[in-house]
Amino acid sequence: MRVAVFSTKPYDRTFLEAANAAHRHELRFFEPRLSRETCLLAAGFPAVCAFVNDTLDAEVLAALAAGGARLIALRSAGFNHVDLAAAARLGLTVARVPAYSPHAVAEHTAGLILTLNRKIHRAHNRVREGNFALEGLLGFELHGLTAGVVGTGKIGAVVARILGGFGCRLLAHDPCPNPEVERLGAAYVPLAELYAASDIVTLHCPLAPETYHLIDDRAVAAMKRGVMLINTSRGALLDTRAVIRALKSGKIGYLGLDVYEEEGDLFFEDLSNQVIQDDVFARLLTFPNVVITAHQAFFTETALGNIAATTLANISDFEQGRPCANVVTLELARGVGGQGDIAKGST
Ligand code: NAI
Repeated sequence: MRVAVFSTKPYDRTFLEAANAAHRHELRFFEPRLSRETCLLAAGFPAVCAFVNDTLDAEVLAALAAGGARLIALRSAGFNHVDLAAAARLGLTVARVPAYSPHAVAEHTAGLILTLNRKIHRAHNRVREGNFALEGLLGFELHGLTAGVVGTGKIGAVVARILGGFGCRLLAHDPCPNPEVERLGAAYVPLAELYAASDIVTLHCPLAPETYHLIDDRAVAAMKRGVMLINTSRGALLDTRAVIRALKSGKIGYLGLDVYEEEGDLFFEDLSNQVIQDDVFARLLTFPNVVITAHQAFFTETALGNIAATTLANISDFEQGRPCANVVTLELARGVGGQGDIAKGST
């Protein structure tokens, strides 16, 4: 099948070409993000392969359909950037990669936590400057602390296991408690209780209307002073301005982010020669107790291999008229936020 692949980075191409040996689709790689301006590039392609910051609103979908597209193959678990109602109206099938490696994101989450609690980001810079002083690098141990995991699906469950391994007491919140997490000794509690008792709060729930700005001024007020907040899930789970207020007051003691609400204008690109125009993001960068990675939690060899293999299998299933378990429908999407079997997140 002819496939227009958007937002292609060299690593995408490497993994997709390797996986395509088993499928033999005709892949055409485009570097730009899919947008109203670039969607014309897909004219004549029955399949369009897109990533997390590509635009798949009604206008772009209509242009793709008019150009002959019948399948949108997402290289992501999340589909919150796709107008599924418009896709259904236009007769476009949307498929995704529901799970590719919860360990990738969970281990990155642990990395952010350990970087922050032992100030490794600051230590690294100091040692490179020949500054071997320890003043200001005093850390704390995870053993014996309370970690609150919000969202205990595939990723949250692995995070809970890792943090349990460090000797953390585990609290969890999820509309669908996960027996695997309960077996780890985690207690499922209401959010207010989790916030009040947790030294670390880590977010692993999808972005849905009910989780938009889950962490706002009120949520932060309910947390312990000096709490460590980690978000590797989806930027809009945080009201970033509220979080900045809390960092300034010391209410939030540590912040680790892999996602940012307005990341579409920043992440995945080298902007090191440009002036960052986003003042909220720029303010976040000024805090010594904030560590930000640019949506790289998924970025492991295992995950990229799995993403490529599943994406191409989805395309083959569609081409050959086989049932595809990874098709996203409006009905499935409506189950998000309570059913726990669909990641409506970003990757
Ligand atoms: P999942 O669907 O297995 O788990 C999500 C869990 O959140 C479910 O158990 C669900 O019941 C729960 N949930 C739903 N609404 C909730 C609420 N209001 N409060 C608490 N929990 C709630 O999804 P998975 O694979 O664990 O992914 C979680 C999130 O991680 C995704 O939604 C995505 O945003 C993010 N992600 C980030 C990546 C990155 O590279 N930074 C890569 C992959 C996913």
